[in-house]
Amino acid sequence: MTGAQPVLSVRGLTKQFAVGGGRLLTAVNKVDLDIRPGETVGMVGESGSGKSTFGRAVLRLTEPTEGSIRFGGQDITHISQRQLRPLRREMQMVFQDPWSALNPRLSIGDLITEPIKLHLNLGRSERADRAEALARRVRLSRDFLRRTPSGLSGGQLQRVCIARAIATSPKLLVLDEPTSSLDLSVRAGILDLLAEIRDETQTAMLFISHDLSTIRAISDRIVVLYLGAVVEEAGAEALFETPAHPYSKALLSAHLPADPEVKLARHQLEGEVPSPINLPSGCSFHTRCPVAIGACKTTVPQPVAVGGTEHFARCIRIQGGATQTARSETA
Ligand SMILES: Nc1ncnc2c1ncn2[C@@H]1O[C@H](COP(=O)(O)OP(=O)(O)O)[C@@H](O)[C@H]1O
Ligand code: SF4
Ligand SMILES: [Mg+2]
Repeated sequence: MTGAQPVLSVRGLTKQFAVGGGRLLTAVNKVDLDIRPGETVGMVGESGSGKSTFGRAVLRLTEPTEGSIRFGGQDITHISQRQLRPLRREMQMVFQDPWSALNPRLSIGDLITEPIKLHLNLGRSERADRAEALARRVRLSRDFLRRTPSGLSGGQLQRVCIARAIATSPKLLVLDEPTSSLDLSVRAGILDLLAEIRDETQTAMLFISHDLSTIRAISDRIVVLYLGAVVEEAGAEALFETPAHPYSKALLSAHLPADPEVKLARHQLEGEVPSPINLPSGCSFHTRCPVAIGACKTTVPQPVAVGGTEHFARCIRIQGGATQTARSETA
């Protein structure tokens, strides 16, 4: 997997919104990310950290302000919507809320057939066969094809959305909180289904969620977002076993069950997330960081390699693989 060319390669991606009075809100801040075939990258961060905006920007559903997006080796950052059209079948998105993603007046069969009609040149009976196969793939029996969304549960509706998203055999799937609106009891089934599809088809996946357990269950690699910027990137296991960035440590320690892991427990998050309209200077986490030092207010941290391969964190206090933990060490 590591040798394959990335399906998606993002460099320096920034998205700012004009929010009146000449002010700019920075939703996504210089993000670099590669996703290879068959790989699932989890993107985690608190609400408002820029996850959805990033997901939409990489698919050109919102226009990036700066940076570049390569898809399948092609630079798609500035190509026209017309040039994008043939690529749409290769990059699909699944949203959080399956209720609003589906036209309630169409049958499930028609909903699944819609992207096939739009993007694939198939005759009527081939389309019907494909819709049936897709329904089976997402484990909905044939009878569902004649029903309408109103009679289905959230989990069943999300299966329909997944069938629509994979109908055109995309190379990249962006999944924006696809299980967050679902009951806990049905989440695991959806995650299993996505993992099966990924393994069968080698579809690259960007899986966005604020929920750490979900991210851990599905991801090969994880990026942690804070105020639109990646503060840490690591293999899923490495992130959970040896988080390096103080923000990741805080997120993980908040998520830990009663187990009083000493090192992590020291990193409690305090205070509010600052406004993305006036990003803090230097390290944008310095206003809440339990181990901040004076230089954090002025120095923008660059990615530092931590431990094994593909593990990076942006913190000036990380040297040789670990942050010092006590504020008193530098006071
Ligand atoms: N269309 C928009 N106009 C102005 N601000 C926006 C817009 N979309 C998102 N934002 C802002 O961008 C930031 C990131 O939002 P979002 O990407 O939705 O975060 P997340 O998905 O992590 O919750 C938030 O501060 C949000 O208010
Ligand atoms: S650079 Fe400073 S403020 Fe930022 S995470 Fe590291 S120690 Fe904390
Ligand atoms: Mg979101």
